[in-house]
Amino acid sequence: MDQVIIFDTTLRDGEQSPGASMNVAEKLRLATQLERLGVDAMEAGFPAASKGDFEAVKLIAEKIQNVQVTALARTSKEDIDLAWGAIKDAAQPRIHVFLATSDIHMKHKLKMSRDQVVETAVEMVGYAKSFIGNVEFSAEDGSRSDWDFLCRVFGAAIEAGATTVNLPDTVGYAMPDEFGQLISYVRQHTPNIHRAVLSVHCHNDLGLATANTLAGLRAGARQAEVTINGIGERAGNTSLEEVVMGLYTRKDHMDLTTSINTKEIFPLSRLVSMVTGIVVQPNKAIVGANAFAHEAGIHQDGVLKHRMTYEIMEAQTIGLSSNRLVLGKHSGRHAFKNKLEDLGYDLTREELNRLFEKFKELADKKKEILDEDIEALMAEEILRVPDVYQLDYLNVVGGTGAVPTATVKLKIKGEVVQSAGFGVGPIDAAFNTIAKMIETRSKLLRFSVNSISGGMDAQGEVTVRLQENGLIALGKGSDSDIITASAKAYVNGLNRLEYMKTNPSVKPEEITP
Ligand code: KIV
Ligand code: ZN
Repeated sequence: MDQVIIFDTTLRDGEQSPGASMNVAEKLRLATQLERLGVDAMEAGFPAASKGDFEAVKLIAEKIQNVQVTALARTSKEDIDLAWGAIKDAAQPRIHVFLATSDIHMKHKLKMSRDQVVETAVEMVGYAKSFIGNVEFSAEDGSRSDWDFLCRVFGAAIEAGATTVNLPDTVGYAMPDEFGQLISYVRQHTPNIHRAVLSVHCHNDLGLATANTLAGLRAGARQAEVTINGIGERAGNTSLEEVVMGLYTRKDHMDLTTSINTKEIFPLSRLVSMVTGIVVQPNKAIVGANAFAHEAGIHQDGVLKHRMTYEIMEAQTIGLSSNRLVLGKHSGRHAFKNKLEDLGYDLTREELNRLFEKFKELADKKKEILDEDIEALMAEEILRVPDVYQLDYLNVVGGTGAVPTATVKLKIKGEVVQSAGFGVGPIDAAFNTIAKMIETRSKLLRFSVNSISGGMDAQGEVTVRLQENGLIALGKGSDSDIITASAKAYVNGLNRLEYMKTNPSVKPEEITP
């Protein structure tokens, strides 16, 4: 009873972050890394949302062995059939059914009475149970529900066979002491609560998701629903790293453990950020760039004298190592393969050959190849969607007094086409020319440049966010030349838009929970 079940929903609630949709290869990669991290359960997606979601959940279910793979469903037979269809081949499948229980949701959204909600929950938990023993029931907007009614619904769901009952703070409204009291109340007043695991699922609208989750665990909940980097709907979900490291660091206070291999936290945080394009704020707890940096002289002095004067955790515990092995142009295939394995990537021979070639090209331009550079290569070469457009050649002219001009050669479905154009600057010229050649109607919503690592020869990493007909795609590109990185990112974004048009993996807004 002192072990907390870590239920990760990065692939489902996390993917509901605006513009964060991931392709199947990216989801599979994240799922593999989540398994390595040691989560107990992962919510792989919402199969009824789209064909793409169904496929992704199915592939994850077939691949992952040591984690309960969960599929989300509304309380309808169609949704539950799809959820089951997607996870039936999983080693450890779970169906997660949800229905709102707050008066405001029942009256305005569901247009159902309390009795109807109880009846539907019972019927649909029972239906899910006809497929599988492991069924979770969530009372959406639970924290704003009438407490006695919530206990009644949970009791009925448990009677119908739910093995986990989850209490979400769907809109991030709860306060920690109040949420803790609610959990205690539910434990005391729900019939047969001992037959199910009580879970918490908090959103971060008031910045209290982690505090509420910990308050819930302290009050007796034993499953925490979390996402990597806290990504998720609106202000996000409770972040996995904060809960896990909170329990780890303050074991003296809570006396609770998890099965998480904390050394995998930082690599996974980087991967999620890279795949979703959602940058981790520098001052983010645990995984932010400044989380272990000491700026003030007094602090630096203290840490040098005794680390624990100003540090409550060791950077190595979350997988941040100060003496990382750096690769360079003399590194061979074996060292490269070892490094990839260290970073958690298990590639096929063909993928390894392809990546090694790109690594050599980069090593010719850049003296030291850091982990971040390798992750960027992975994102560009391995996790990418099939390309319709490829950047074959780019030449830009800029500078004071010159009209910024770009000459571009693109391979479009294998055929090389060439054009030139102008812009207000060299990046604008390159984008205008590419847009003209592809005849895209997409709008550039966001453009950002980051340095992947430190140093004068650092690679630039460009992220673009493109929108067309309600679809939003993220494009990423990296290169030691930021104009080339920008063009690569733009072409990558256009490829992802094309992919989304033909693979309906984007969820229509109205059915995302
Ligand atoms: O926030 C929420 O209520 C949810 C449920 C589907 C669990 O994500
Ligand atoms: Zn949620």
